[in-house]
Amino acid sequence: MKIIKLDAIDSTNTFLKELCQENDVDDFTVVITDNQTEGRGQMSSVWKSDSGKNLTFSILVKFKELGVNNQFYISKVISLAISEVLSTILPTKISIKWPNDILSEQQKICGILIENSVKKSKIKHSIVGIGLNVNQTVFQSLPNATSMKLISNSDFNLDELLEALVNSIRKHVVLLNAKKNEQIDSLYLKRLYKMNIPTMFRDAKKTVFMGKIIGVSEIGRLQVELENETISEFNLKEIQFVNF
Ligand code: BTN
Repeated sequence: MKIIKLDAIDSTNTFLKELCQENDVDDFTVVITDNQTEGRGQMSSVWKSDSGKNLTFSILVKFKELGVNNQFYISKVISLAISEVLSTILPTKISIKWPNDILSEQQKICGILIENSVKKSKIKHSIVGIGLNVNQTVFQSLPNATSMKLISNSDFNLDELLEALVNSIRKHVVLLNAKKNEQIDSLYLKRLYKMNIPTMFRDAKKTVFMGKIIGVSEIGRLQVELENETISEFNLKEIQFVNF
């Protein structure tokens, strides 16, 4: 595994992105740090992680023939790769909260930030940033956060965990490059949080409504069946779970 270990860095995603702009970086190169000072999350949020206790890393993933219309498959394979590893280690139910948060039961254990480089309608590569809560046990002002240690009461070796995650990511990217889209879809929907379960949502206008997730569209929009039996599709900024 090609790995760049940094004592401290603002964001491993930013570091790897800049490295790729100036160099020819190998596929599956990992940039990891014990101390990420300005971790970035989805939708311009921040990702905080106690120094030395968790995994905060980014991995470069290159694609052979992946059109921009299929970019949500990256989220699918990465979230599957991580959730499969966690479900072999942890006793709790591991699911994927759309689009790609990893939950243990009702709590977030891992966040993923995927940044794509696009050329002529094709995804050249992605910088996949992963923040996995491992041995941290206190999460100030984050009531929905958990960690592997909080769940299992034991400490985990970060190097071993990283290796397992990277191997799983490699394995799942093979599925994508081999265009096993139906297999990926079915695995993703099996792991999807609240799939087919009546759930309370809030839309962009803060209106609360009941609906049932029935799938995800090709471009990654969440498909929800409403109480009047019509189906609506939502982008990331357009829908939230009320009880999360
Ligand atoms: C989210 O759930 O909002 C995504 C969080 C992603 C955090 C990881 S930590 C390593 C990598 N570097 C960053 O700046 N962010 C990602």
